[in-house]
Amino acid sequence: MHKDIRIFSFEDSQGLANSFVDLVEKYLYARLSESKPKPIGLPTGRTMIPIYKLLVDRLLLWPERELNELIHGWESFNLDEYIGLSLDDINSYRYFMFKYLGGPLGLKKNQLRVPFGETEEPEKEAYSYSKDLRFKGGLGFLILGLGVNGHIGFNEPPCSSDSCTRVVNLSKETRTQNSFSFGGNIDNVPIRAISIGLKEILSADEIHLVVTGIEKSEILYEFLHKNCSKSLPASWLKLHQKIFLWVDKDALNKVRLQGLNKH
Ligand code: GLP
Repeated sequence: MHKDIRIFSFEDSQGLANSFVDLVEKYLYARLSESKPKPIGLPTGRTMIPIYKLLVDRLLLWPERELNELIHGWESFNLDEYIGLSLDDINSYRYFMFKYLGGPLGLKKNQLRVPFGETEEPEKEAYSYSKDLRFKGGLGFLILGLGVNGHIGFNEPPCSSDSCTRVVNLSKETRTQNSFSFGGNIDNVPIRAISIGLKEILSADEIHLVVTGIEKSEILYEFLHKNCSKSLPASWLKLHQKIFLWVDKDALNKVRLQGLNKH
């Protein structure tokens, strides 16, 4: 088990969301008084739905002045986007982000950045997305989800720690995992995406990896027990000085069982 990862574990995903949103709120509040705050890094995925919902509920309770400041100064970069979906496709990550966060908070498109996946020139888009992020000083507070094959963003295995923002091919496993929102049909899931690379991820000031649910139990066990390697992209996170892991009981299932078996 890795010593440097700080782990916060919870009975269920709702308990996790409550505590995690406490922290995000504090971070966002402190960000208001920074003169040149860095952009926030955001993921999509089912893990994030209850978190974004709760975050919106909490933020809308802020006093008007602070809420306006927050909205005015908002700047986030999402990790990834499918290539080839139209802007208003309900499966695009842009749609997801504006449904759960941007819309309810009243954020503008240029404040809640998501790679432009409808482009004819995805390589060019990946390059300019990473250039824009660099120009803003890189990511500050970064939230990540975990794919069942160990991907973060859309950094699929094998993936090295110095991979940059780029066009990626999606694995069959990932397309199967994500097919739930494409009518359950893997053939409807795009084959390529644009993803922020490990290099930009590892340059963030602090990283919060959120893992919930029994289906992540196996990969979470591997993440905690295996050394850094290309075959497990999330494993590179262990190289970061400020990595926090937020997990619920279901995701920890295999870790707990293996621990018990040893005695
Ligand atoms: C998706 C996204 C990731 C996300 C991860 C987990 O494929 N590309 O950004 O964090 O996989 O998704 P979920 O929370 O739905 O399990």
